[in-house]
Amino acid sequence: MTDARPGDGPETGGSAERDVPAGAAALQVDEGRHAVTGPDNIIRTEGITKRFGALIVLRGIDIHLGRGEVLGLVGDNGSGKSTLVKILCGFHRQDSGRIFVEEKAVDFHSVKDARACGIETVYQDLALVPALTVYQNLFLNRELTRFGRIGWLRNGEMRKRAREYLSDIKVDIPSVDALVETLSGGQRQAVALARATRQEAAVLLLDEPLAAMGAKESALVIDLVKDLSHNHGVSMIVIDHNYTHLFELCDRLNLLQEGRITLDQRVQDTSIEELTELMVAEYRRRVTAGEKELER
Ligand SMILES: Nc1ncnc2c1ncn2[C@@H]1O[C@H](COP(=O)(O)OP(=O)(O)OP(=O)(O)O)[C@@H](O)[C@H]1O
Ligand SMILES: [Mg+2]
Repeated sequence: MTDARPGDGPETGGSAERDVPAGAAALQVDEGRHAVTGPDNIIRTEGITKRFGALIVLRGIDIHLGRGEVLGLVGDNGSGKSTLVKILCGFHRQDSGRIFVEEKAVDFHSVKDARACGIETVYQDLALVPALTVYQNLFLNRELTRFGRIGWLRNGEMRKRAREYLSDIKVDIPSVDALVETLSGGQRQAVALARATRQEAAVLLLDEPLAAMGAKESALVIDLVKDLSHNHGVSMIVIDHNYTHLFELCDRLNLLQEGRITLDQRVQDTSIEELTELMVAEYRRRVTAGEKELER
């Protein structure tokens, strides 16, 4: 079993051109606030668009991610954050627009293609096999064997390396022999992060890694993310609805509204108040557009 999910390949093609739903077309987005693009981008996109049937989710997304940078992706429910991440990890295919990895244009046809470029996605729980131990999960599909692929498993060596690696990245798990199903959500997330980075991911995409976690577990994952970016040079895109977490974790934030990035700022140049104001303004625009639609 692998951490591949059903439908791990890309979708086929975009849907036929259809009418934009009433209301959505009438919405206007401000030009927004944008930070200066860094020169050393590991990932960059140009004009990514994506629609699902009549619903236009992404309307031309330009994002960039620097080496060792942690970028937070913020936006209302249904604003397209997961869709964008799924495009970057090869799970969905964009309708138009381009992705560059280290300034080289790439064309992902599957999650495997993105992995080959060092891009790993971590989904809470889904990435691990609960009935296996921590070390077995860390070496899943990359087991160490004595005589080639079908030889004896080198369990002792895998245990030792798992212990070393986890201690290296400061993950505190009771034992590498513990079954993953006995771990807390935060510990599982830490093992999933460790597994992704052990495979030398240069980029980690984390879709709500702190969802449903208590303060202590969140702190564990936050510390790990910081260590991976600061001390191991891993770049990350993190989706989270909790602004406090994002301001603690991220170097820069992008706000996704109505299919566009409307704010791109370093955390020290924006605030929870500014993000909240922009979100409330979007909500008001939607309500007004809805009312106008009803009047027609
Ligand atoms: N496979 C799909 N088929 C059809 N519509 C989809 C599909 N995936 C997402 N959508 C729609 O696209 C929009 C964006 O969804 P997405 O999951 O990217 O939002 P999100 O920003 O991650 O939201 P949340 O914060 O709630 O996780 C939603 O309206 C959703 O219903
Ligand atoms: Mg989502």
